Amino acid sequence: MSSYFIKFSIINLHKCKVAVKAYKWLLNLQDVEVKRGSSLIVKGPARFSVLDGLVEVFGAPVSSGESFIAIADRYYPVEVIDNSIIEVSGGENSLCETVSVPLIPQDWKNAVDKILRFKNPVIIVLGDVDSGKSGFTLYLANRFCLSGIRVAIVDSDIGQSDIGPPTTIGLSVIDKPSTSYAGLPLTDAYFVGDNTPVGHLLPMVVGTMRMVDRGFKYGANAVIVNTTGMVYGGVAQALKYFKIEALNPNFIVALQRNSEIEHLLKPFEGVIEILRLKTPQHIPRKSRSERTDYREFKLGQYFIGARTVTLKLSNIILLNTSIGYGNENTEIRNIIEKIISIKPLSVKTYGKTIVMLIKSFLRPDMHEKLYSYLKEKYDELKIVSLQKIRGLVLGLYDLGNRFLSLGILEDISSEDIKVKSPVKSPLEVKYVRFGSIIVNEHGDEIARIKPGLI
Ligand SMILES: Nc1ncnc2c1ncn2[C@@H]1O[C@H](COP(=O)(O)OP(=O)(O)OP(=O)(O)O)[C@@H](O)[C@H]1O
Ligand SMILES: [Mg+2]
Repeated sequence: MSSYFIKFSIINLHKCKVAVKAYKWLLNLQDVEVKRGSSLIVKGPARFSVLDGLVEVFGAPVSSGESFIAIADRYYPVEVIDNSIIEVSGGENSLCETVSVPLIPQDWKNAVDKILRFKNPVIIVLGDVDSGKSGFTLYLANRFCLSGIRVAIVDSDIGQSDIGPPTTIGLSVIDKPSTSYAGLPLTDAYFVGDNTPVGHLLPMVVGTMRMVDRGFKYGANAVIVNTTGMVYGGVAQALKYFKIEALNPNFIVALQRNSEIEHLLKPFEGVIEILRLKTPQHIPRKSRSERTDYREFKLGQYFIGARTVTLKLSNIILLNTSIGYGNENTEIRNIIEKIISIKPLSVKTYGKTIVMLIKSFLRPDMHEKLYSYLKEKYDELKIVSLQKIRGLVLGLYDLGNRFLSLGILEDISSEDIKVKSPVKSPLEVKYVRFGSIIVNEHGDEIARIKPGLI
């Protein structure tokens, strides 16, 4: 076994949150000959060029004169199809190594052949964290494209997102193979507003279903649903069970090192075709902090170049927050102002609820004092503090309920809402959906608001 290691001491791309293209290449592995049938594993950041010959990356062909970029800390299986001359350049901790076993295992190939014979299939991919779900999903999608079938990938992994920014279920409809997720278009997305499904099981199931539906509407003839690696415990079990129940897929692809997700498969044994596949041994495990870094990197990168946009409240609808409901109630406002001597930004009522938006905080005893005056007519007094929700992640949608972009809440007044966002045409924004995580200007998570509190 021969191996080539490429190591450099330059800034860590990941930590510095710089786009791959801003990377400086320091060393080249030039004119290396690789034999047909051999396999290479490449770890980014790296540029891999084929000077002559043909290789495949996750099944996507890269031929003479073409290259692909391996992003930092990600691994790429390269299968050499024809004798080839390659050139590899890389950054810190990158790697290019020949391995003696096939990186796309035969059981993956057999499973794909079986799926390809099915008409208009829906496939759900399950597995623990770092089990190869994203790799298999991309390989399967590429094989669909190479067979001339337009395919949709629904990425319901809202934390370790491959398609679209974290906090969303991303949809990409493609008909050309790709060596990585970086090049795939974001066709649509469903905003969940958090990077964990915990507390958001309904949006997770509804959003996944909606994206599958949209995938077919955008002309796909097959839909692959990738999932989170959350597979242990009651919440995981409930989420996976109901997602499968709702989607009723034609195939469940189960990636396992041993038999760690058999408990999720049991209810569907004999009902849905289950394809059990082994996680290739070369797949490394990421630490918790690497996962957080990746998430924050992706979110930070998403907001590069974002600007403050002002949206008129009279033109938009606020969702997933009680601030968006009800009408201004001056009678209640007057009572409140008299009791607590502050001027709320808004006081609205609907049903038996009062929603009050204030700039900073209200002491709990003041809250109680207020409520005791109002409880005869109202069941609930909801107090939302702008200071607490500044930095909240938002999902912006157009009139047709199509995802436009994410936003970060900067300010709300009685007339408008200020949002930091890369949205191209703010006038198209019709719905602003409130999420659950608060981030700073770099996209780092700093707090979480429980669903229902705002
Ligand atoms: N067949 C393969 N051969 C070599 N590397 C692979 C293969 N499949 C995936 N990888 C790489 O291994 C790493 C982990 O795999 P992958 O991202 O597919 O796992 P995952 O189950 O989706 O993980 P997560 O829980 O983070 O979503 C990634 O860098 C990926 O590019
Ligand atoms: Mg993944």
